[in-house]
Amino acid sequence: MRDYENPQALHQNLEPERAYSIPFDSEAAALAGDKSQSGRYRLLNGDWAFRYYERVADVPAELFAADCDLSGWDVLAVPSNWQMHGYGHPHYTNVNYPFPVDPPYVPDDNPSGVYALDFTIDGEWRDRETYLVFEGVSSFFYLYVNGQRVGFSKVSHCQSEFNLTPYIQPGNNRLTVQVLQWCDGSYLEDQDFFRLSGIFRDVYLLSRPKGHIRDIFLSASADGTLEVTADAACELSLWDGDASILREALTAGQKHVFTVPNVKQWTAETPKLYKAVFSREGEALAHNAGFRAISVSEKCELLINGVPVKLKGVNRHDTHPELGYVTPADHMRRDLELMKQLNINTVRTSHYPNHPEFYNLCDEYGFYVIDEADLEMHGFCAWRRGYEYSYYDSEWPTDMPEWREAFIDRARRMVERDKNHPCIIMWSLGNEAGCGVNHEAMAEWIQARDDSRLIHYEQAGSDKMKTLTGVVSSMYHDLETVEKHGINEDNDPRPYFMCEYAHAMGNGPGGLSDYWDLFNQYPRLIGGCIWEWADHAVILRDKDGKPYYGYGGDSGELPHDGNFCCDGMVLPDRTPYPGTKNIQAVYQYVSANLLSAGDGRIDVEVCNLHDFITLDGYLFDWEVTADGDAVAQGTFSVPGLKPKDSRAVTLHAPLPAKALYGVYLNITAPSVRLQLEIPAARAVAAPISGQGLSYTFDEALGTLTSIHIGGTELLAAPASFGVWRAPTDNDMWIQNEWIAGVGNRKSWNLDIVKTKIYSTETSREGGNCVITVKSALAASGREPLIRMKTVYTVTPDGAIGVDGYADVNERVEMLPRFGYELVLPKGMERLEWFGMGPDECYADIQRHAWMGRHTSTVTEQYFPYIVPQEHGNHTNTRWLAVSNEQGCGLLVKAKTHFEFAASHYTAKDLTQAAHTCDLTPREETFLRIDYKVSGIGSGACGPYTFEKDKLTEKRIEYGFWLVPFCEGGALPPP
Ligand code: GAL
Ligand code: MG
Repeated sequence: MRDYENPQALHQNLEPERAYSIPFDSEAAALAGDKSQSGRYRLLNGDWAFRYYERVADVPAELFAADCDLSGWDVLAVPSNWQMHGYGHPHYTNVNYPFPVDPPYVPDDNPSGVYALDFTIDGEWRDRETYLVFEGVSSFFYLYVNGQRVGFSKVSHCQSEFNLTPYIQPGNNRLTVQVLQWCDGSYLEDQDFFRLSGIFRDVYLLSRPKGHIRDIFLSASADGTLEVTADAACELSLWDGDASILREALTAGQKHVFTVPNVKQWTAETPKLYKAVFSREGEALAHNAGFRAISVSEKCELLINGVPVKLKGVNRHDTHPELGYVTPADHMRRDLELMKQLNINTVRTSHYPNHPEFYNLCDEYGFYVIDEADLEMHGFCAWRRGYEYSYYDSEWPTDMPEWREAFIDRARRMVERDKNHPCIIMWSLGNEAGCGVNHEAMAEWIQARDDSRLIHYEQAGSDKMKTLTGVVSSMYHDLETVEKHGINEDNDPRPYFMCEYAHAMGNGPGGLSDYWDLFNQYPRLIGGCIWEWADHAVILRDKDGKPYYGYGGDSGELPHDGNFCCDGMVLPDRTPYPGTKNIQAVYQYVSANLLSAGDGRIDVEVCNLHDFITLDGYLFDWEVTADGDAVAQGTFSVPGLKPKDSRAVTLHAPLPAKALYGVYLNITAPSVRLQLEIPAARAVAAPISGQGLSYTFDEALGTLTSIHIGGTELLAAPASFGVWRAPTDNDMWIQNEWIAGVGNRKSWNLDIVKTKIYSTETSREGGNCVITVKSALAASGREPLIRMKTVYTVTPDGAIGVDGYADVNERVEMLPRFGYELVLPKGMERLEWFGMGPDECYADIQRHAWMGRHTSTVTEQYFPYIVPQEHGNHTNTRWLAVSNEQGCGLLVKAKTHFEFAASHYTAKDLTQAAHTCDLTPREETFLRIDYKVSGIGSGACGPYTFEKDKLTEKRIEYGFWLVPFCEGGALPPP
């Protein structure tokens, strides 16, 4: 049996897994923690000689010889993924395995990369033992040193360590590593990501004294108890910054328990770290010590240090658009800093142990971590075609004895590597791998080794697993199901956690605040992790060499899952999506509500939503606006406000008695944005008027075809009504009910809707000219969708009222949108509006937007979603002016409110383009004035838009004014 097709051959000659730590020359150096300064650590990253073969059978044996001539070899960076450097190509697949499902066998076309590097051993290194550590290699490798085979290893995202001492000599040595793209372990690594290969994390040598400390197990509790076990006698010192607060001798293999008085506790909000340094034979190893406790209350709350905590989480892959799986430390730091700004407090390392340094950073920045084993077997759902997901299937490796040790190995290697990190609050058995006795074995192993954290597994379906796991976990459930778990009729003692929810693919996710209303209502609902942090597209080049974000299929691979890998809160370059600002607002740690307003003062109740800290770090800016103009502003703080407490704050502001569009109080601080409406009487708008205007209304077309003012034509095409929007990624499935396609009889064909005019009648009423149009919208092959009556009232002042009703066919469940569509000519670029903005927003994504007077341009309305889609909407608009540089344009005034979007692309342009770089902006401005646009939801992988946010009305009534203006003509809005 080949080692790489044998699930019982886990590894050969591998050192037992141990807690990740780098040895230093002294306590001081260990405390400083700069690896590059350690004389006992030699990073082997850099250029390695490299040869690539499409088939493992083609690799010549002489490559492994100690004296093999490397001069003709290619050069490849370590760490890297070879597909990112032109060997093979990136392959994205989600559920489907990228190879035939014939476990434990993998294809004969199994690409192999052979890496070689020379290194020297000299000085003190000659007298000590030398170890070689690979932090991550996908998916299997053989290690040769000086022509001798040392061993092999698997499990891509875990650490492999070899003792090289017997194989090396003083002076020059040769390392040769043969990496295989696939192995039996690949059946356990069917995560939803680009399948990339090679040595993708650090490789380094360690020089360690004989009889060194192999492993350390450290556990620090909230009450100041410190438990430590080291497997060699050593000295422990505990440090609080520069102060040494404990120094004790440890006996080999014995658990020592110390008590640290007046300890400061670790939480994600107060990431107070002590350092424990273990010294022996001139070698010093440092570990973070964070004093904290994890428990579950009688109400099934998750308690950190006895305090109920909600997990405002996100799922994160190690992913980089140019480097693939390689995530440099500054890149990980940037992720975590951005997450902090976005009010995230939890990371699930989906779906494998992330880079070992990631956990040090989470300890330091303060994040709760769900550490997940490198185990997913989703592809078995599809191995017999279709998609069958039962949590138990005896034909999957989950139940086969020959795979049992491989499962346990994946739990063991994660837990042993990461066990000392205070940030880790749950151990996860992996993702989407069904559930069988092998999972139970993993959970039992973990429970026996470390029972201080909760065990998590989303597929924990067996009775035994229900007792082994400390948390009920689900994905993408709808609100009703989540609420049932909140009510918990079965009295399950475990908290309920959504390891995935709110699918942030493209425009979205919608409905996040609805989940949080439930999480806040029910103690048992402890929060969840958004799917997912970053898009994992890869940078590819088009035929002109221009870079673009590529996804599944862009490298010609099959099978693939298109852009399903682009479902992050941030673009691959970490630019937040508009919907991410909504996440930030839903997750924010401050709320406010209005107590009273009047007599020059506003009383607001400010609530601190943190679990552990006051709001002392916040200085709030406040501003009162009336119809968009600032009338008062200032700053305030709420010193000493305890977590979950609120306090009244008085702000002094002259308040207008009346306003046309509203009076608002805005309260902002970094990562906080709140808006409260201040009740004010409604002022009556001044009459609107126009000059030098002419309109053309085409009787046969039943619509306006020209609006002319001051020499400027405002319409580039006849006005119309429409219901179509370019589908968002989250419309992925529902669009089959919308879009005309080959043989699609399920669809209303909303993308090819035509207008039918039944009658156009003109009359004079008072000074007004009134045109009444009866019409319908319908697509080929379908009965009418909507029947409408529209009344155009042209006033002598030159304004046009557009009022009407639309009766929607009873059989149409929902419409993507309904509204008026105008095409404005070149140059209509400037936008100013009163309503929700400045960022795009939708019925179910709008906590981040605020009512105000906003300015923008049509060009700026475009957001570069990786796959172009619906974007740029604004809800609750009271007026909108679109104009050119000369100041001529169109004012749209709501009778109540409308939604609008302005773009240089048609819905068709957006629907057809596969990448942003495929789009060419048009000169015209395509303007939508919508009665309503349906929300976005999470439908690509979760519930579609919640009912309340869908456009489902059967009778739609609307009305707005169109007022053309030009310099010297009708005035722009107040
Ligand atoms: C989940 C899975 C994730 C990802 C997501 C869709 O079912 O756990 O890994 O595939 O769906 O984006
Ligand atoms: Mg999956």
